[in-house]
Amino acid sequence: MEQYVIKGGTPLVGEVEIGGAKNAALAILAAAIMTDETVTIENLPNVRDINALLEAMAEIGARIDRLDDHTVKINGAFVRDVPVDYDSMKKIRASYYLLGSLLGKYKRAEVILPGGCNIGSRPMDLHIKGFRALGATVEIRGGAVAAQADRLRGNHIYLDKVSVGATINIMMAASMAEGKTTIENAAKEPHVVDVANFLNSMGANIRGAGTDVIRIVGVSKLHRTEYSIIPDQIEAGTFMFAAAATKGDVTVKNVIPKHLEATTAKLLEVGCEVEELDDAVRVVASKPLRNTQVTTLPYPGFPTDMQPQMAVLLGIASGTSTVTESIFENRFKYVDELTRMGAAIKVESNIAIITGVHHYMGARVSAPDLRAGAALVIAGLSGEGVTVVDDIHYIQRGYEDFEGKLQSLGAQMERVSTEKELQKFRFKVS
Ligand code: EPZ
Repeated sequence: MEQYVIKGGTPLVGEVEIGGAKNAALAILAAAIMTDETVTIENLPNVRDINALLEAMAEIGARIDRLDDHTVKINGAFVRDVPVDYDSMKKIRASYYLLGSLLGKYKRAEVILPGGCNIGSRPMDLHIKGFRALGATVEIRGGAVAAQADRLRGNHIYLDKVSVGATINIMMAASMAEGKTTIENAAKEPHVVDVANFLNSMGANIRGAGTDVIRIVGVSKLHRTEYSIIPDQIEAGTFMFAAAATKGDVTVKNVIPKHLEATTAKLLEVGCEVEELDDAVRVVASKPLRNTQVTTLPYPGFPTDMQPQMAVLLGIASGTSTVTESIFENRFKYVDELTRMGAAIKVESNIAIITGVHHYMGARVSAPDLRAGAALVIAGLSGEGVTVVDDIHYIQRGYEDFEGKLQSLGAQMERVSTEKELQKFRFKVS
């Protein structure tokens, strides 16, 4: 199995290009098959989750033409709305976006029910509530969600909880329903806006994305488009926090600073200098880190996908900090791993109480999920000694060339796949 091996203690310095937003791209790929014409998508992140979804879409008949690592042409004319129960579907939760796109276009869809993952149960009750409100019958059978409608009619839908996935899935189905749909208490994440803009570029009529009320007037047909995915705010935030944790000076490029406001605010609170440029943000961490408090919230609050990275940073800040996770019920699994690197963290219910230590010590740790894995890499980069991170396939789901980008900033780290390579790296840095 591949591992990252890291020699800590080197400040990260330089510039890094941020890729397209994984969580926008997954939904946009699913929406691309809602037309029979060809759709071109650019600035696609070349990560495992994207490649898994493209593989699943090809298996149900989508014509996929990968022009390069970051550009794809898709034609959904030959998509069959048959049960989507391929193994590739089980690889990623976001395959559930095919429910909204296939239901919208074919008025029927069946997709493997996503398994839970390591941050919580990941229910779909709000998605199902929305599809039923549009007139679909939805049932769970054989581990799959099956939705069907003679006709989809617009409706007024109130989401009991703010849900990115449910907002996007309902928006896709409603874009080809008859009449008007209103989604109240909608998620406002930048990737929700990106999916709405993408659908509108195909001829949909969606207004209000980015606010908590989205209004949709259904259309009968969608057409070709060429679209470029927005930058990934979480990849950007991850590199900004890596700069802060290693006392570095890093400029993240190809970003939308407005999407990073909550992340930037926390870096300022802990004592970093942050400079915003048009499409870049520079983080300089020359002073000792200070403690603070943070609670994860739906956008524009502090993102739950930056929660592990925040805890790693506060783990080496002076004083006591708290991190409250209000979105997922089980997103502190990495704390045990971080404790093995010398962190002083106590989790009580959904709050982590963190007493800052001077530095982390290298250890062998295992990535429990995508963002926690990236956070453990940051801990290794900032600490002393050598850290080995196992299960890096989680990290590769959402970060393109993670080690290459960090190496370009001066990180002493490698991706190894044999004990021999690991020992060679240890010898080289000893
Ligand atoms: C998306 O997940 C992202 N994944 C997650 O990123 C991200 O953490 C999350 O949004 C929150 O921002 C993708 O976009 C592929 P939710 P999603 O529906 O849509 C509850 C990453 O690291 N809920 O906004 O599944 C749910 O349990 C991943 O890239 C219901 O109760 O998240 C959670 O507590 C991790 N019923 C809360 O809502 C539902 O029907 C928010 O979940 C749906 C969700």
